[in-house]
Amino acid sequence: MSMHRPQDERKHSPRTDYESLGSQAYDLLKDEPDFIANSANFASLVYHGMSDVNWCGFYFKRGADLVLGPFCGKPACTRIVLGQGVCGRAAAQRQTLAVDDVGSFAGHIACDTASQSEIVVPLLRGDELIGVFDLDSARLARFTLQDKVALEELVHVFMTVANPPEPLIHEPV
Ligand code: SME
Repeated sequence: MSMHRPQDERKHSPRTDYESLGSQAYDLLKDEPDFIANSANFASLVYHGMSDVNWCGFYFKRGADLVLGPFCGKPACTRIVLGQGVCGRAAAQRQTLAVDDVGSFAGHIACDTASQSEIVVPLLRGDELIGVFDLDSARLARFTLQDKVALEELVHVFMTVANPPEPLIHEPV
């Protein structure tokens, strides 16, 4: 009797080749000084390099708000107050936040109603919060602990080579 159970395999997304994504990101961004161009290419690279992701992109800190940056996916809300939603909470706490079921996250901001799980990785330069990198999935519990660790490393590569601008105004966060 076969032990193969295809329905079990569908519970997990195919593994992402994060090592390849990291080296592709480095190669793609390293010679371009423009941060917005680098952010756009990074979002596209990750979006197309991962399965079961329906939105992937940036929000950048502008005063007490996060403002939409380059992304792939459906149009999204343009402005999130720090502390609000999954993005604002991750930004305020300066910690990666993975939500297995956004329906059970109080204050989740629904941009695409298809989204069921989400992970948000803060963009930090030392103590300074630059923004967040946000990924949504139409699958519950899409983002594992392995994804969290690997995405933090990928965002670290991004922050190292994307050339984030110095803040125009030094403001308390
Ligand atoms: N769901 C996010 C809002 C951004 S979208 O997912 C693109 C949140 O709750 O912060």
